[in-house]
Amino acid sequence: MSNLEQTLSIIKPDAVERNLQDEIKKKFVENGFSIKDEKKIQISKNEAEEFYKVHQSKPFYGELCNYLSSGPIVVMILEKENAVIENRKLMGATDPSKAENGTLRKMYGISIDKNSVHGSDSLDNAKIEIEFFFKN
Ligand code: CMP
Repeated sequence: MSNLEQTLSIIKPDAVERNLQDEIKKKFVENGFSIKDEKKIQISKNEAEEFYKVHQSKPFYGELCNYLSSGPIVVMILEKENAVIENRKLMGATDPSKAENGTLRKMYGISIDKNSVHGSDSLDNAKIEIEFFFKN
């Protein structure tokens, strides 16, 4: 049965700074994702706080929002069968040092903060996150 989904992906400042966006986009395409929309932007700290509000109570929230707003990012709508879980598999564990070989965070991530990519963690959040960046 077909289960075509869309998920939101962000190439984070550490990866854009190292000019890795084309290489990372190629990995998505090679792994069967289509990039339905994309843009390179820089967001404000307020926007980062809104985007990451599910993490509001976490000790790393402030740093996380400073970081996401610290430089240009590439935001993308990715489409594939079971895109949410498939993207999470391709990204690997949040902490690059714990991510499996071949995953994006293992290949490109520097630290748990500078882990190169973000991906929606559920279909509900994917809808919210896509709307956040791609509302008209
Ligand atoms: P991301 O998938 O973008 O979602 C929230 C981010 O918080 C996560 O990736 C990490 O980069 C960052 N983060 C920093 N510290 C932690 C932590 N201790 N646990 C989980 N995420 C963390």
